[in-house]
Amino acid sequence: MKIFAYGIRDDEKPALEDWEKKNPDVTVGYTQELLTPETAQLAKGSDSAVVYQQLDYTKESLTALAEVGVTNLSLRNVGTDNIDFDAAKELGFNVSNVPVYSPNAIAEHSMIQLSRLLRRTKPMDAKVAKHDLRWAPTIGREMRMQTVGVIGTGNIGRKAINILKGFGAKVIAYDKFPNKELQEEGLYVDSLDDLYAQADAISLYVPGVPENHHLINKDSIAKMKDGVVLVNVSRGNLMDIDDVIDGLNSGKISDFAMDVYEEEVGLFNEDWSGKEFPDPKIADLIARDNVLVTPHIAFYTTKAVDEMVHQSFDAAVAFAKGETPAIAVKF
Ligand code: COI
Repeated sequence: MKIFAYGIRDDEKPALEDWEKKNPDVTVGYTQELLTPETAQLAKGSDSAVVYQQLDYTKESLTALAEVGVTNLSLRNVGTDNIDFDAAKELGFNVSNVPVYSPNAIAEHSMIQLSRLLRRTKPMDAKVAKHDLRWAPTIGREMRMQTVGVIGTGNIGRKAINILKGFGAKVIAYDKFPNKELQEEGLYVDSLDDLYAQADAISLYVPGVPENHHLINKDSIAKMKDGVVLVNVSRGNLMDIDDVIDGLNSGKISDFAMDVYEEEVGLFNEDWSGKEFPDPKIADLIARDNVLVTPHIAFYTTKAVDEMVHQSFDAAVAFAKGETPAIAVKF
């Protein structure tokens, strides 16, 4: 059996070597390049392809892969929003993702960022770096005094709720598909509007599917409390960033942490030191004391990377054997 993997990063290699040791009967080929119509032929002769990229899996790329005989595609990440599923269906693809690699990784990052915003660590760290060790005016707020609105109570949202409970915050939640236990605890509000009206801070854990596109926009922001704190570690397209910037400018939004950005492809996970950002908005956001920008690193822990590699390669083997792995995507 042969599996070919695209976009393998150096930090994934230890996990990949470990998987190879455990699966000596599988030949693994890989490249650092992403799957494109041009690189598809690298997978020729393989039973399955393993991929991770933020670039779209277009009809052209999928067709090129199918033309070299590969119609098993295992994603090493959770998000499937960049796959052309119509094309995948038409071409007879099997697709898997890794829906649960480490919800804690993402939930922890979001709550670390929320705590940092509340305790104003960015301006305080900047003062300390300049040897200004005075307290004022960089006074913080306490987590337990906040009503935190969690939008999306899947695996990640629920971990975030547990962390919030540890801090003693009041949690309110909204999900189109409520979780029974949380329902019994009475955590859900009836609508997003209710959540907007009550929350001091709002953190998002929903996928970037079309119906969630620009969920956070000038209308939803207008329904929020004055001085609301926003956290987005989920998908960039959940927010109309211009409306968020307007909210920051007017003070309606007091603080904002973003780990994702609608225009992040080609921007995040690149070294811009000594160079100008191609996008002035990101430079503006990074420069603000009350905004924390991280380049889509919420997921980025040793545990998560290990799971992403192991689970995706296991699924690729299952597809190659004609089986349906538990993490196959239904479409
Ligand atoms: C996903 O798993 O879809 C993520 O957003 C993390 C990705 C950057 C590997």
